[in-house]
Amino acid sequence: MIKDNVVIITGASAGIGEATAKLLASKGAKVVLGARREDHLKRITDDITAAGGQAVYQVLDVTVQDDNDRIVQLAKDTFGGVDSIFLNAGLMPSSPLSAMKTDEWHRMVDVNIKGVLNGVAAVLPTFVEQKSGHVLAVSSVAGLKAYPGGAVYGGTKWFVRDFMEVLRMESALEGTNIRTATLYPAAINTELLTTMTDKASREQMEGLYDTYGIAPERIADVVAFAMDLPDDTTVNEFTVGPANQPW
Ligand SMILES: NC(=O)c1ccc[n+]([C@@H]2O[C@H](COP(=O)([O-])OP(=O)(O)OC[C@H]3O[C@@H](n4cnc5c(N)ncnc54)[C@H](OP(=O)(O)O)[C@@H]3O)[C@@H](O)[C@H]2O)c1
Repeated sequence: MIKDNVVIITGASAGIGEATAKLLASKGAKVVLGARREDHLKRITDDITAAGGQAVYQVLDVTVQDDNDRIVQLAKDTFGGVDSIFLNAGLMPSSPLSAMKTDEWHRMVDVNIKGVLNGVAAVLPTFVEQKSGHVLAVSSVAGLKAYPGGAVYGGTKWFVRDFMEVLRMESALEGTNIRTATLYPAAINTELLTTMTDKASREQMEGLYDTYGIAPERIADVVAFAMDLPDDTTVNEFTVGPANQPW
């Protein structure tokens, strides 16, 4: 249930994370925001508080385990516990492999894969001990379908799919009652394309988003739906995108 749910949101300074933080807080969740840009986090936290919600933030780089551990502690110190984590931080500097943007390959692995591992490592002992918890993660349609230019980004998102499914299975087998939800968004209008440095790839993607993109609040609605289901119910997979986007 959303009301009084203490939820950590990574990548909460923009886009899907910001929209989700605001929506969940408006429904009574206690939101704990993490990302690198403090000015954005402060503005969003102030907005939520001014609207009557409960929010706190911490500067967080998901690639740093200690940052992830500290935000879990912040949730406990501020709100008395942690019920959910929304693993949303990510970037998409896609390009053809022949462009040899190897630094960006490694950066995507660090943020999109290791960031998810670090977040789960930070909450899992608590969730196992309390025999409850909800792990929600953002994969992508790029985690379901291969396409030129998306080898590494798609690979990181395929990882999220496998990881979340095994987390679900092991939690069920071990009786820890940890719920999971994996989201596979298509074109959502956020800052994501600003992470693309390959000019041709970016222009192609901008054309797609200009044609089809929908608002990040649509993803927030799905997160809220998953969280609001009873504790005995997991809906593990949500593919969400513009109604008129063919793939
Ligand atoms: N937009 C789409 O069409 C789409 C489609 C499928 C999947 N997704 C996924 O959705 C998620 C959210 O992206 P978005 O579309 O909302 O893009 P966005 O507007 O660019 O937001 C990305 C968020 O991730 C944060 N972030 C990036 N690196 C980080 C790091 N090292 N540590 C902590 N936070 C970090 C950013 O905050 P700071 O820069 O302040 O750290 C920002 O808050 C990503 O995982 C993305 O892959 C998006």
